[in-house]
Amino acid sequence: MKFFIDTANLAQIKEAQSLGVLDGVTTNPSLMAKEGITGKNNILKHYVDICNLVEGDVSAEVNALEYDGMIKEGEELADLHPQIVVKLPMTKEGVRAAKYFSDKEIKTNVTLVFSAGQALLAAKAGATYVSPFIGRLDDISTDGLNLIQEIREIYDNYGFETEILAASVRHTMHIVNCAKIGADVITGPLSAIEGLLKHPLTDIGLAQFVADFEKGNK
Ligand code: E4P
Repeated sequence: MKFFIDTANLAQIKEAQSLGVLDGVTTNPSLMAKEGITGKNNILKHYVDICNLVEGDVSAEVNALEYDGMIKEGEELADLHPQIVVKLPMTKEGVRAAKYFSDKEIKTNVTLVFSAGQALLAAKAGATYVSPFIGRLDDISTDGLNLIQEIREIYDNYGFETEILAASVRHTMHIVNCAKIGADVITGPLSAIEGLLKHPLTDIGLAQFVADFEKGNK
């Protein structure tokens, strides 16, 4: 299972990278705006900065809504760095663009996926990743994990190679449950990844080991 961090914040990306378990980064226009990254040149430079911090795939989202604009923007993004994955919205235009980039062997991530049918279309278009947003489904009293399960079943039925990138992960149990279901990737905040470290018995056990060592080695 791959771990991606879902942020455009360079300090957090560095911190996650230093843990040694990071496989990539996802961004979106809201996350870029949150970091105050505006204007085409700054945005493109920021993607390159992220690529230079990590080894894996870095999803960079197009802002165009129509096909020609998506192709132009996506090609520009893909030319920036070999680690860039072109992130496209789950719309008719986005699916067409995913097919275009997949034919050119440029990696894609189809985002804003909220149903199994949408995920099926993304796979048919040859997307590298599909991003079902589990947290946003949970927010409206719909089981996000159930969607991951449905997509897993459909992709396994047909041997689709599109990777299930569980997105909108909000907490540590989302990660554990996605791993149980067999999501290929999760993307979430650093806090959700670091939450995997925690267990009170680890802390108690370690405190005891330290105390016993100190007693015998005074
Ligand atoms: C996915 O790639 C998105 O960037 C992200 O996971 C959305 O998460 P949110 O619902 O917490 O905004």
